[in-house]
Amino acid sequence: MLNYNSIAPIYDLLKNCVFGKPIFKIQKAQLSEIQQEDLVLVIGGGTGYLLEHLHANVDYVDSSYRMIRSAQRRDTRSSVTFHCCRLEELKPIVKYDYIISDFFLDLFSDEDLAKVIDLIKSMLRITGRLIVKDFGVPKTCYQSWLSYSMHTFFRLTTQLKRKRFADLESVLLRNGFKLKDQVFVRKGFINSWVFSLR
Ligand SMILES: C[S@@+](CC[C@H](N)C(=O)[O-])C[C@H]1O[C@@H](n2cnc3c(N)ncnc32)[C@H](O)[C@@H]1O
Repeated sequence: MLNYNSIAPIYDLLKNCVFGKPIFKIQKAQLSEIQQEDLVLVIGGGTGYLLEHLHANVDYVDSSYRMIRSAQRRDTRSSVTFHCCRLEELKPIVKYDYIISDFFLDLFSDEDLAKVIDLIKSMLRITGRLIVKDFGVPKTCYQSWLSYSMHTFFRLTTQLKRKRFADLESVLLRNGFKLKDQVFVRKGFINSWVFSLR
């Protein structure tokens, strides 16, 4: 099972050193249509950077208690309920207007990814939106090297099983999602996609 507790204290620093401002820009993208009264599920939210840019009713799930502890210290205008558990263990009693997945879907093996996508579909309102921030398939030698280095690092520190990024856009389209909007930086290596179910 993945465990991000050991790297939680240095996670943001690491992200900043490797990717700098562009990754934070992508994380803030495409959130403006979310309204204060909307129900939002943030999955694998990590240290909670996103919370500083959300104003809504948020259920926030992360399996690392250290990540949750950092997220709880963030300044946010949202009303947030924290769930320290795996997404697969969450038993929501509502369906969400938005589900936000930042650099989370890339953690799962192909088999588990299909199950997680089914789960997300079951938690999203038919009119809802899935907002995914994640890596694309590397297109340059540098991106391939970076992808290899990141996977090696996370395999050693968090028990990550994957060896390379999935083509998430294609996987989500194959699983019934429709692409509504996309912005990207670094030639599509870092993306923000908005998907709907219809
Ligand atoms: C790569 S980090 C991304 C953190 C944050 N979203 C960001 O963009 O900076 C992945 C996060 O997912 C959490 N995580 C891993 N597996 C999980 C699961 N099955 N359910 C919920 N959270 C999980 C980890 O604890 C970690 O905080």
